[in-house]
Amino acid sequence: MLILFHKLLMVLATLSIITGVGTAVFFRQRRYWLKAHKAFNSSAVIFLSAGVVMAFLAVWQQDGEHLAGLHPFTGVTALGFAIVSLLIGFYQFQAKNRMQAFKTLHRWLGRISLILIIAAFVLGLKHAGIF
Ligand code: HEM
Ligand code: HEM
Repeated sequence: MLILFHKLLMVLATLSIITGVGTAVFFRQRRYWLKAHKAFNSSAVIFLSAGVVMAFLAVWQQDGEHLAGLHPFTGVTALGFAIVSLLIGFYQFQAKNRMQAFKTLHRWLGRISLILIIAAFVLGLKHAGIF
């Protein structure tokens, strides 16, 4: 049951981050891009955090070993990168004198987060025998 919530939350997280990054890449000329970018990426981090908690509870319920294997390892790393990207995303507007450096950092961490989440998703499907 808990693992079902894990899977559902990760589907939502993956779709949100693809949409959130997509707005920055493809809809930059639209007025609303930053609002959509913030909303979708913040939602992605919330879904991702809740999904990781569900996975830990599910493994704990089955007395399994935590973080055993590539899927959980990639998943936890993806969450770490996504949280840092989110924080730097907000912080870049405050960092007046080094704003460009934080923008560049945010772009790269954001791109890495997206790749890691997609990798964790594919490995999750493999782990569950779907792929
Ligand atoms: C963004 C995508 C995902 C992330 C970040 C993620 C993250 C994690 C983490 C951190 C764990 C380990 C919990 C622990 O060891 O205590 C885990 C376990 C698990 N995940 Fe995911 N996951 C993702 C997507 C998926 C998907 C799409 C599926 C399957 C359709 C899936 C199936 C599973 C299963 C079955 C486990 C339990 C592993 C076990 O019993 O050892 N995950 N996931
Ligand atoms: C998990 C959260 C986030 C991820 C993964 C993410 C990812 C990205 C990526 C990949 C880009 C570069 C797009 C490109 O290649 O052109 C970008 C740009 C940008 N993001 Fe985010 N973002 C996140 C959260 C946020 C938040 C919360 C804010 C603002 C409060 C924000 C503000 C921006 C801005 C202003 C840019 C443009 C930077 C520039 O002009 O170089 N992001 N983001």
